[in-house]
Amino acid sequence: MSEPAPRVAEGTVAAIVPAAGRGERLGPGTPKALRLLGGVPMLVHAVRNLAAARLVSLVVVAAPPDQVAEVRALLADHHGGAPLQVVAGGPTRQESVRAALAALPDEVAVVLVHDAARPLAPVELVDAVARAVRAGAEAVIPVLPVTDTVKRVAGDVVVETVDRSHLRAVQTPQGFRRAVLEEAHLDPGVEDVTDDAGLVERAGHQVVVVPGAEEAFKVTRPLDLVLAEAVWSRIRPGGSRGR
Ligand code: CTP
Ligand code: MG
Repeated sequence: MSEPAPRVAEGTVAAIVPAAGRGERLGPGTPKALRLLGGVPMLVHAVRNLAAARLVSLVVVAAPPDQVAEVRALLADHHGGAPLQVVAGGPTRQESVRAALAALPDEVAVVLVHDAARPLAPVELVDAVARAVRAGAEAVIPVLPVTDTVKRVAGDVVVETVDRSHLRAVQTPQGFRRAVLEEAHLDPGVEDVTDDAGLVERAGHQVVVVPGAEEAFKVTRPLDLVLAEAVWSRIRPGGSRGR
């Protein structure tokens, strides 16, 4: 069941939201993107922040294939800002991204890819990534320094301690010139790369970094959801810190 692509202006920035995962590490139940955070599905938080970004003119969500109609109805109820489209995701994250890419209108020149599982990524981060692509970068990723000591192991034996000063933990939204991302997604070895920038690197393009945001952490395991609830209760409108 597809819907017509919304009309957008030439050079538009679109945000793709892969949201079709089961969330197995979070435990059994509703697909992760539809699990509640502050009483609202995580996907709604993620879409709201993208749609509120100044530079984003279209949001395309890749939903669990058996829940496209529900997700469409859910977002119609909760959503304002940039126009929205919902497509069926695929069995892997990359296939979900590809399904959303295929739905983009021709006018879209810049694509952000943002995990539904990062519901609290701030609007300012979304705009900072989009701005960096608009300023000329082919690919842009938000990163944070690695705070844990990192070791390489073989089985249960430490082989070396890695110098973490050059390591960065990578977040989303990641931003790309559309043609660069589309070309990277043609790579047949695509499934063993965990983020879109990894594909773009492999295709030989330069990926640049911008400062990430702590709130853009990914909800992967049950403890992450506890943290997200605590963060949301502080940053939500009317929360203890306000917004
Ligand atoms: N994703 C997707 N389609 C898939 C698999 C993942 O759109 N077939 C999305 C998830 O919905 C999530 C993002 O990719 O927003 C990041 O993936 P991850 O955190 O691994 O989520 P899940 O795959 O749902 O979780 P798990 O790996 O624990 O099952
Ligand atoms: Mg996964």
